[in-house]
This record gives sequence, C-alpha cells and structure tokens, in this order.
Amino acid sequence: MIIAVIGSGYVGLVSGTCFADFGHEVICVDKAEDKIEKLKNGQIPIYEPGLEELVAGNMKAGRLSFTTELSDAVRKANVIFIAVGTPSRRGDGHADLSYVYAAAEEIATSLNGFSVVVTKSTVPVGTGDEVERIIRETNPNADFEVVSNPEFLREGAAINDFKRPDRIVVGLSHERAKSVMTEVYRPLYLNQSPILFTSRRTSELIKYAGNAFLAMKITFINELADLSEAVGADVQDVARGIGLDNRIGSKFLNAGPGYGGSCFPKDTLALVKTAQDHSSPVRLIETTCSVNDQRKRSMSRKVAAAIGGDVRGKKIAMLGLTFKPNTDDMRDSPALSIIQALQDKGADIHAYDPEGMDSAMELLEDVTFGSNAYEIAKGAHALVIVTEWDAFRVLDFSRLKDKMVTPVLVDLRNIYGKDEVVKHGFSYTCIGRPDEEL
Ligand code: UGA
Repeated sequence: MIIAVIGSGYVGLVSGTCFADFGHEVICVDKAEDKIEKLKNGQIPIYEPGLEELVAGNMKAGRLSFTTELSDAVRKANVIFIAVGTPSRRGDGHADLSYVYAAAEEIATSLNGFSVVVTKSTVPVGTGDEVERIIRETNPNADFEVVSNPEFLREGAAINDFKRPDRIVVGLSHERAKSVMTEVYRPLYLNQSPILFTSRRTSELIKYAGNAFLAMKITFINELADLSEAVGADVQDVARGIGLDNRIGSKFLNAGPGYGGSCFPKDTLALVKTAQDHSSPVRLIETTCSVNDQRKRSMSRKVAAAIGGDVRGKKIAMLGLTFKPNTDDMRDSPALSIIQALQDKGADIHAYDPEGMDSAMELLEDVTFGSNAYEIAKGAHALVIVTEWDAFRVLDFSRLKDKMVTPVLVDLRNIYGKDEVVKHGFSYTCIGRPDEEL
C-alpha cells in the first residue's frame, strides 16, 4: 500500500511514521519547506517520546519519505490521508476548515486511478461530504472515495496509542473503500484491535463525542473535588470508589487545574457550535466548557489563599507549564490562565518546564524563567506544581525550604501526600483532599 499523508504536524507525522512502521510505503507532505528539510535530516519538530527513533528507522528502511510536492505524492499513492490543522475559527469557535478544503482541491487534480481520500483531521459532521463535493467539482473524472478515520492519539503517548488502539473508527459507504482501509490497518486487525465500520457522518461525530465525554468526565471530578473540600471528603477516594464500577471506569478521573491542550478545549467548543447550528443543543458540553474556563483562572485563588490571601509583590514559582507532561505543547494550558490571573493580582512569576519553555516564552510576558525547580524556588513565597512531570515527583524538600522565603507547596496535580511534604516544614495545599484526612 502506498500512503500519502498531507500535513506533517503532530497527527500527520505520528500517523505516517506508524503506517510506515507497519510496512506501508509512506510519503509525508507539508508546505513548510524548513520543516520538511529538517525532517529529511532526521530532525523532529515536536517533542514526542520515541518518535525520533521511529522516523529514523523507517527512513533508513526506505519506507518513509518527506516532500513539499503534494502532486507527486498523491499521484503515487493508493490512499491519501488529510491530516492538516483545524484550529478554532477566530470569533465563533467553529472549526476552521480552510486547510482541509484547500488540501482537497489540491489533491483532486493529481488523483490517479482508484484512490481513497481519508480525513484524519478532526472535522465537524458533514465535512467529508464537502471534501467529496470539492474533489468531484475540481476533477469530475476522478475515481475516488472519501472516508472518515478520526485519530485518538494522546500527546506524549501517541505511538503506543497508534499501535495499540482501543479501537479504530472508519466511516464510509462503499465496499471498495472498505477493503482498502482494511488493508491499511491489517497489522492492527491481526492484533485484534476492534475496527468499527460505520457511516462517514457517524464517524465524524464519534471523534467529537469521545473528546467531549472525556472533557466532561474530568470536569465532573473537578467539581467533585471542590465539593470534597467543602464537605471534608477525599476526591481521590471518590474517584477510586466510583471508578471501580466498570460502567464508569477509573481513567480520566484525576482532579486538577482544568483540562487544556490542542484538542479538548477546541473540540468541545466546535461540538457546541455544530449542535447550536442544528438546533439540537448539547447543554452538558456547554456547561463543561464554561466550568473548565473558570476553573483554570480560579486556581490563582487557591495559590493566594495558601500564602495568606494576598499575592501582590510576592514571588510565586511555577513548576510545569505545558498542558500535561511529556509534551512541549502549551496550547490552552491551565498554566497560562493561572499565571495571567496571578499577575493581575500583582504576583511576580518565576517558572520552569522541562520541555515547554521555548513556546512558553512566546506566550507569556513578564515571567522570569529558570533552569530547574531549585533555581526558581530561590526567594519564593510559594511553589506551585501545575504540570505533573515525573521530575517533580521527587523534589528535595529540605533543599527547597532553604531557598524559599516561606515554605509553601501548592500541588495542583495531587502528586504528593500531605505527610511527606509537611514533615519537611512545608505547608501543603492540594486539590479536593481535606487536611484532617491526609
Ligand atoms: C486528547 C484525547 O485523550 C485523545 O484521545 C485524542 O485523540 C486527542 O485529545 C485529540 O483529539 O487529538 P490530549 O489532548 O493529547 O488527547 O491529552 P489528554 O491526555 O487527553 O489530556 C487532556 C487534558 O486533560 C490535559 O490538560 C490533562 O492534564 C487533563 N486531564 C486528563 C485531567 O485533568 N485529568 C485526567 O484525569 C486526565
């Protein structure tokens, strides 16, 4: 099978590389010449554990190549994946589909023989129909089918998610495309990963429904964390207690500062817009979006309370800036809202992140960056764990205490138990776990 992947961003690069690793011949295409030049030299533009080695191995084996020439790649390929970005459209929150439609138009003119065009980008219901219309209008003689095949990769665990998926969802309506997609995913099929074949529109909706449900689950436990604090219960035990019920499941029940990233905030908003457009509102998701937005900023109140209520002129050290560990992605990270809210209250922010500092520097103003936890803790009135990087799980509290003005730890990810922190003379604030229980 020869596969062309249009768009070598996060999804395109991971998917293309993994398809090559399955044994297919893959050509990754991107308009950004500098990105393609770097990839040809084995330099990976994103931080994703294991990806660099996998790209190198498959390039060496001759199965993976990179180009800016879309037409050559499409002409050669049996299957063309569209994996370009679908950011939130400015102003209304709808997914911006201009890159998807532009790719469809370009692909159309180079289709050669029977081809399957697959949308892997996250796209609202009905986008496949429009892609089909564009291709047919641009090239009436083309022999093709348009398929929906959403991705369910988590940043930081993307390769494992691709190779050992809970399920593969494929939306199509004809046998010809079905046999091609079965061939594409044959290696996973043999591993017995479930493949759900459904209609294209259903497949498009499954992607949004999945992300919205997970975002809602996190928001549910975050609100239960606040309630736990109010009534003197422990949210981690609540999560365990309900998660052991198989109907609920234990995953995505970690209370924290609110969800961020390039997917949940954007996709929940886009689902709300689609639902409104069809006069079929999804009120639970609407509420999830607004509760999560408020939560991120409200974490600044927790920090203020931990140091006596007023942060003006106080030095606050922030540990972790990315929206989650094992990524350099800062998009919609809770850290951005928390830092902004603390700065609005007059705090002096110092920060460190193992991988996200370059992008953080572009997004944050008036923040002093340090090169490790101990450097930013010097002279600080509070240390705040915003992202649960492994490196922050084994902090040397005696060393930190010597450097800080007041030994205060605010643990927004619940990675410590109170005892192990207070025994070093720290005061400890976390999420949804009452003092007396700890
Ligand atoms: C998410 C989904 O998990 C993937 O299945 C999906 O393919 C992807 O979006 C996408 O649409 O492309 P991702 O955004 O990489 O993946 O990250 P997650 O691991 O889902 O975390 C999202 C946010 O939720 C993070 O800010 C994380 O800290 C937060 N979170 C997650 C919690 O606060 N608590 C939890 O229990 C789990």
